[in-house]
Amino acid sequence: MNIAVFSSHNGSDLQAIIDACNNGSINAKVCAVFSNNSDSRALIRASEAGIDNYHVSTIVYGSNEAMNAFILRQLDHHKTDMIFLAGYLKKLGVEILKKYHNRVFNIHPALLPKYGGQGMFGMNVHKAVIASKDAVSGVTIHRVTEEYDAGEIVAQATVEVSSWETAESLAEKVLNREHQFIVEVIKEIIEGRIPLGDSATLATGGI
Ligand code: GRF
Repeated sequence: MNIAVFSSHNGSDLQAIIDACNNGSINAKVCAVFSNNSDSRALIRASEAGIDNYHVSTIVYGSNEAMNAFILRQLDHHKTDMIFLAGYLKKLGVEILKKYHNRVFNIHPALLPKYGGQGMFGMNVHKAVIASKDAVSGVTIHRVTEEYDAGEIVAQATVEVSSWETAESLAEKVLNREHQFIVEVIKEIIEGRIPLGDSATLATGGI
């Protein structure tokens, strides 16, 4: 299973996937890493692990079309089976979503459908959970569609929100849970318990 990962900043979820591939917890390989941010730690982590990595931005490629064409060529070149958005703050191009139909997943640091949608990323999410006084938060892994955080939810894990919790402590707690959970869910995908889209679309260029 070749997994391409998109990440904008720190890339600790990416690191969890790389480590799980390297220590044999999952029978998979991170085949390529993409980031819209040339300074991201995610690109450094990929380089350190010997994984081909690409800074993809319209500044480099001139237009969204040219950038997406480049991404598609690289995904194809690396024989990508599945795409994981792990802290990727850009929308993935429609042409990529079409070709990798039901093969693109995102990890979100809350229990969707609550605390999702445009602007709901990073600390914004955790601050909203604390402000709502919810007793439980968690992690959601869902399929990616054109709309932010709206695709089919494939797995969720919960974490308890303590009475003393701050947005910062909750962020740390959720991120730690993510590092195990993303690996558990990738395992379920590999074992076919969470189905992937028809592989015919990979050959034909989309539906
Ligand atoms: C995670 O909390 C993930 O749920 C969200 O972005 C964060 C990425 O963290 N989509 P990192 O860059 O992998 O450390």
